[in-house]
Amino acid sequence: IPVDPFDLVIFGGTGDLARRKILPGLYRRFVAGQMPADSRIIGAARGELDDAGFQKMVAEAIAEFVPAERQDKAAIKAFLERVGYVSIDAKGTGGWDALKSRMRENVVRAFYFSVAPALFGDLAERLHAHGIADAWSRIVVEKPFGRDLASAKALNAVLAEHFDEHQIYRIDHYLGKETVQNLMAVRFANILFEPLWKAEYIDHVQITVAETVGVEGRGAYYDKSGAMRDMVQNHLMQLLCLIAMEPPYHFDPDAVRDEKLKVIRALDPVKPEDIVRGQYLPGGGQGGYVEHSEDPASRTESYIALKCHISNWRWKNTPFYLRTGKRLRARASEIAITFKEPPHSIFDDAQGWRENVLVIRLQPNEGMNLMMMIKEPGPGGMRLMQVPLDMSFADALGAEAEDIPDAYERLIMDVIRGNQTLFMRGDEVEAAWAWADPIIAGWEARGDRPQGYDPGSSGPEDALMLMHRDGRRWREIK
Ligand code: BG6
Repeated sequence: IPVDPFDLVIFGGTGDLARRKILPGLYRRFVAGQMPADSRIIGAARGELDDAGFQKMVAEAIAEFVPAERQDKAAIKAFLERVGYVSIDAKGTGGWDALKSRMRENVVRAFYFSVAPALFGDLAERLHAHGIADAWSRIVVEKPFGRDLASAKALNAVLAEHFDEHQIYRIDHYLGKETVQNLMAVRFANILFEPLWKAEYIDHVQITVAETVGVEGRGAYYDKSGAMRDMVQNHLMQLLCLIAMEPPYHFDPDAVRDEKLKVIRALDPVKPEDIVRGQYLPGGGQGGYVEHSEDPASRTESYIALKCHISNWRWKNTPFYLRTGKRLRARASEIAITFKEPPHSIFDDAQGWRENVLVIRLQPNEGMNLMMMIKEPGPGGMRLMQVPLDMSFADALGAEAEDIPDAYERLIMDVIRGNQTLFMRGDEVEAAWAWADPIIAGWEARGDRPQGYDPGSSGPEDALMLMHRDGRRWREIK
């Protein structure tokens, strides 16, 4: 379904995120017929470029980041006709009048701040001062949304000076992933799971986001961030919320976000012994973490595992184990919900027995697996074995994996539609920092060093212990 016609201004339009994600994503929505022909995309950045120069850059970005079979010459040409550029001085006056003259009446106006957070205030202020933004305009901001509670509050305050909360779209691209949204469909559109979705029946939950890439080229940012700030405070926290939240009364932005906020607020402080931090060592012909960092003695973690508890009726005593890291064995993100034992076994030979596990694979090979017990086939008596009820979304839907819209495509269309359900509200972000801050402050005060781990492994040894000592095991990363 096409969205309303729009003018989308991308500040930082020549930057990496715009080239990799935003512009190719918009092209794909254009090809899919979702971006109306009378919409405009305006790149805005410091560089002196004209429309043709920017169009050339956009064409190159499409060539590089859209799969070859999805590139169509005529469509690219038509798309580029809707693309323009304004050179702008975020901290000065240059370019703002030119930008204003590009904006049209009676279309949705959206402003994507794909720039360093330090510029958010300047952009917001100038959009208003020059009469470019009005009460119907929307702004989109990227992570990192602060690096602690104080800085997140300051960013929220600076944006709030010029925009209402309903105009602010804080992106967490994990919420735009197809399978992440499916999590809500699975939970709330089926009767099967919800009655069992509580501490009484769920032993524990594992959330894994494993990456094979390192921090190459991003050392300067990453070293001040680390896995906790870069991944846990936002992406893993959002996944945890979607698993743990109460059913919202409606699939409506504030109803959903209210429920997520309650989960974050119910999180207990994490004990030092429930945290394992790691840093990848050199290996596989590549340097270790510290080689990418500006500080050879860096204590920044490229891996973190932690055990969390949610203090409410539903989850009392069901731990949530989270882990994420770079340079691990495989790129694999999944949520695994392990159920408890049946109250009584009627089978003598329960040797083959394993817990039911619902595995939601976020990437790659998006899908779901329900691990079930069946009888081992053959005449050997009643022996049990575990088999997966396996559903890959691509197979089930007969779709090619690349036909599933990328997170950014979906989220940008939601901005134009004015739907904030998949965006973080200011109080949610602040609550997540309020939880993360003391954890980080704790290891800084103790002077903890991350444990080294080999690239291509499943992380530091101590992370195994985090589960072993509870009589549980991490799922294999593969
Ligand atoms: C980003 C982090 O937000 O998410 C990166 O800054 C990380 O460090 C990336 O690699 C992972 O996203 P995805 O979509 O590839 O899982």
